[in-house]
Amino acid sequence: MVDIKEFQKRIVVTGGAGFIGSNLLLYLVPKYPDYLFVNVDCLTYAGNLTSLRSIESTTNYVFEKINICDRQALEDCFRRYDISAVIHLAAESHVDRSITGPAEFVNTNVIGTFNLLELALERSKAAGHFRFHHVSTDEVYGSLGPTGYFTESSPHRPNSPYSASKAASDHFVRAYHKTYGLNVVTTNCSNNYGPYQFPEKLIPLMVRNARAGLPLPVYGDGKNVRDWLHVQDHCRALDLVFHKGTPGQTYNVGGHNEIENVELVRMICSVMDELLGEGPREELITFVKDRPGHDRRYAIDASYIRQELGWEPSLTFEEGLRQTIQWYLDNNDWLENCISGQYLQYYEKMYANR
Ligand code: NAD
Ligand code: TYD
Repeated sequence: MVDIKEFQKRIVVTGGAGFIGSNLLLYLVPKYPDYLFVNVDCLTYAGNLTSLRSIESTTNYVFEKINICDRQALEDCFRRYDISAVIHLAAESHVDRSITGPAEFVNTNVIGTFNLLELALERSKAAGHFRFHHVSTDEVYGSLGPTGYFTESSPHRPNSPYSASKAASDHFVRAYHKTYGLNVVTTNCSNNYGPYQFPEKLIPLMVRNARAGLPLPVYGDGKNVRDWLHVQDHCRALDLVFHKGTPGQTYNVGGHNEIENVELVRMICSVMDELLGEGPREELITFVKDRPGHDRRYAIDASYIRQELGWEPSLTFEEGLRQTIQWYLDNNDWLENCISGQYLQYYEKMYANR
């Protein structure tokens, strides 16, 4: 049993079994041995504990299978570990799923965030201090035309049920700072890529299909633009903002790396042709019906976080993409376990008798 008094900070990381949460915990747990990290995740289809194997026995890490919509379970957890901070990543995160089933997005992204804010406020009043870091997306700002960038003062104009639910959560976080004085920071980040991303998202999906010789489905005319950032650079930004961000502030995080979807898919094909031979895999590109409400372009102006906190992306897209493709090729078992659903049994196997 962990002796919580040993730890200088006791931090709930929600959604720690997801793509960004796993990468964040793999980065922070070894870096801060004097903090206790409590991974609160209910393990939806997107939660994969096998990603965290290398830290699961570390003394400053624990996993708690809790749904953030379950207020009582959350409250018990906060009390048990005497929680002093939250880094909130848990969310329903896939735009396409939000179009076919928006209800879960409202539950987790809005009600779940509200529950966490309420508990944070309660503990902040009792202890006199608390830190709440809300992890959000640039999609709350809506869609850009061919020019211009999202800044921290861009209005929220969400277009999908996913981005609407994230925008609602951003507003609640802001309101808890303005109304109750809760110590909050928010980060709005552009599209992430890197290891451990569920293969419903563009890059791992294309790598898997290209390897298997399956069609590469590009939505619409393929000219939608995303601003890609390697997840490790996002994690470095989260670490900085969590520790040094000014309470009440929002920080935009982006890669200065805009690329059209179809061009990105061509890049993936050409790296894979080079690494695996055969091809050209480009011939697998298939234009399919567009996503309804598909935002045309996202691009972040990250000058505020650079000036205030000295953050810059460290990897070029060419380096990061090549490393990421190599990672999925080297970790084909991880990818195929996502497709087969085998990873879902890992919790039972590892935690059932604990
Ligand atoms: P993900 O879908 O890979 O992971 C989400 C995690 O949250 C999963 O482990 C899931 O089990 C957990 N979860 C979902 N509902 C829950 C609930 N009700 N209770 C407890 N746990 C629950 O998502 P991700 O890509 O890692 O994104 C993490 C966060 O970062 C999200 O808030 C997302 O909006 C934000 N974000 C993501 C990106 C991106 O490109 N992926 C970019 C900017 C911001
Ligand atoms: P995605 O990874 O779903 O992220 P988001 O929608 O949050 O930006 O998609 C990235 C872009 O790729 C987006 O413009 C939609 C497009 N896309 C495709 O063209 N084909 C696909 O199969 C997927 C999953 C996405």
